[in-house]
Amino acid sequence: MTTRFTVNGKPVSVDKDVKLLRFLRDELHLTSVKDGCSEGACGACSVIIDGKLVRSCSVLTSEVAGSSILTVEGLPKEEMEMFVSSFGEAGAVQCGFCTPGMVMCAKALLDQNPDPTDREIRHAIRNNICRCTGYAKIVKAIQIVARKRNGDSDLQDDRSWKVGTRVPRVDVRDKVTGKGIYPDDIYLDGMLYVVAVRSKYPRAKVLGIDIENAMLVPGVVDIFTAEDIPGSVKVGHIIQDWDAMIAVGQITRYVGDVICLVVAESYMAAKKAKKLVKVQYEELECVRSPYEAMKPDAPLVHEKGNLLGHTHVSRGDIDGALKNSDFVITEKFFTPWTEHAFLETECAVSVPMEDGGVKIYSTDQGVYDT
Ligand code: FES
Ligand code: FES
Repeated sequence: MTTRFTVNGKPVSVDKDVKLLRFLRDELHLTSVKDGCSEGACGACSVIIDGKLVRSCSVLTSEVAGSSILTVEGLPKEEMEMFVSSFGEAGAVQCGFCTPGMVMCAKALLDQNPDPTDREIRHAIRNNICRCTGYAKIVKAIQIVARKRNGDSDLQDDRSWKVGTRVPRVDVRDKVTGKGIYPDDIYLDGMLYVVAVRSKYPRAKVLGIDIENAMLVPGVVDIFTAEDIPGSVKVGHIIQDWDAMIAVGQITRYVGDVICLVVAESYMAAKKAKKLVKVQYEELECVRSPYEAMKPDAPLVHEKGNLLGHTHVSRGDIDGALKNSDFVITEKFFTPWTEHAFLETECAVSVPMEDGGVKIYSTDQGVYDT
């Protein structure tokens, strides 16, 4: 079945029924359409379909037959410039991963409501998540875009930058227009896609890995398990004792340990095959908190004991300061768990080099952890 629709004014057709997000990214390479969650929760993949804001990860190509789809790449030049200058001026861009989705959200709002209130803007972007800016600057940016679209002549782009004046980020244009390339936006000729089959249980012994049915999925090139990695490959930020993949007979240490890697010619084929890998586990008692981990008979998360690290920080003459204090309070203090929970797709692209090495583009701070 062939589905036809237009994207940024150009007619396109697709034979497979896939998520619109995957088609826009993997076939048309429209990298402004970001994959933040793949499941309708973040808004990074927002596009405008027949005038309405839609999350492209939540619709199939068959559902948009005959529609007209707009992504950031299809914005008229003048309007694009308004978004670039306004987001830059307001300081509304940090990592920039949410930005094209915010731009589409703002456009859908302003096309319907050219002069929105602050409250209406906040309501419009309520389903688009930004993990960096705190939203206030995005709201301000949309207010500036609205004024520019309405022909406010008081707003002139001030380029008389000097020491002490505010200047936009140097990469604001790339991030607003979706041209800034993140590792997930890298598409290479003949590129293979790898997805990981991860442990279903926090602590379980792997009894068997059956890849037979998964290997039959068209497009699957190979499936690798720990047995395919020569030697012992351990990773870890503080203690390098974590197996890169869990072999048959070994015990997992969290939901997320990698059991095997599926390699395929397309992302969709890899995802399909991943579901067909059958892993047999013997579920074991796990540790659920630092307190459980400290018990003498707790299962070992780390081979040499569950204490990952102990750090004592002191500055100055502590004993003297305490002795000379009018009051001394002894208390236990706890800090909250903090996880930045960035939107950017966690992934890496590795490219074989002519000298036999491999160049790795990673979203991470350490390629060994990606
Ligand atoms: S809402 Fe579509 S990728 Fe998050
Ligand atoms: S700037 Fe919004 S997620 Fe980073």
